[in-house]
Amino acid sequence: MKYKIGFIGLGNMASSLIEGWRNRGREGKDIIGFDIRQDRMNFVKERFGINVANSIQEVADGEIVILAVKPQDFSSIKIDIPQDIVIVSIMAGVSIKKLEEHFPNSPIIRVMPNLLCSINKSFIPFTYNDRVDKKEKELFISWFTDFGEVTEVKESLMNVMTALNGSGPGFIAYLIEAFTEASVYEGLPYEVALKLTLSIFEGTSAFLRENNISPNSFRLSVTSPGGTTSRGIWILEKAGIKGTIYDMIRLSSERARELENS
Ligand SMILES: NC(=O)c1ccc[n+]([C@@H]2O[C@H](COP(=O)([O-])OP(=O)(O)OC[C@H]3O[C@@H](n4cnc5c(N)ncnc54)[C@H](OP(=O)(O)O)[C@@H]3O)[C@@H](O)[C@H]2O)c1
Repeated sequence: MKYKIGFIGLGNMASSLIEGWRNRGREGKDIIGFDIRQDRMNFVKERFGINVANSIQEVADGEIVILAVKPQDFSSIKIDIPQDIVIVSIMAGVSIKKLEEHFPNSPIIRVMPNLLCSINKSFIPFTYNDRVDKKEKELFISWFTDFGEVTEVKESLMNVMTALNGSGPGFIAYLIEAFTEASVYEGLPYEVALKLTLSIFEGTSAFLRENNISPNSFRLSVTSPGGTTSRGIWILEKAGIKGTIYDMIRLSSERARELENS
């Protein structure tokens, strides 16, 4: 085989994966990609030094082919993929069953990464069909471990994984935006507010992970009676923010389910 990885679709998520691999020293010459947009092909070729294909069929000459188009564009893909190539789909809401209708005899892995792959900090949940053998699974893991922890999950959990892991960075960015803007309202310069907000999000996550402590125990330990944290938490409880976050994950999971059924 000429290449190791072939991409169909070279948009935001494909670029993020390629960047993560290049950070880890994977070679651009081992990767090829095709996109219907010439500007996307020019961009990734120039930025990451990968090969770009003149036709979609050329990407089917690697060990793994990654489907990285929007779910609604999946049915427009016309390609013959030999059965010894592992197909990896990163598309939200496209089930293994639907993928098998297009590629009936192929080993297929469904994965839900996020844009943090570009800095090698994404959790990687995956599931696969019964045509994937041990060697193919190991091949997949050896590449995707470059982004972060790779964990096998039941396919029934893929929609909530899409909400939490796929959309999660967008949700957290929204919260960071809100913390920053609220602190600007109280008088902090924007740059200072943003720097502090990033530091508390990053620092709190690291603290919980490193000390293996639950968010609830940590929060109680920093909430002194009648203090400033307690006053702030009171308004979050009164406004029902936790309930809104339940709804956010539920609605986002439902949207992934809608895509799966469309
Ligand atoms: N972005 C995320 O945070 C994220 C996270 C997890 C998973 N995903 C999944 O990753 C996939 C890609 O998302 P994205 O954000 O990277 O989308 P994107 O930026 O729109 O990239 C998709 C690219 O594929 C092109 N394309 C469409 N049909 C094609 C075809 N038949 N052959 C080759 N290229 C084709 C698109 O061109 P046009 O623009 O002309 O259509 C576009 O350049 C989606 O299925 C999404 O569910 C995304």
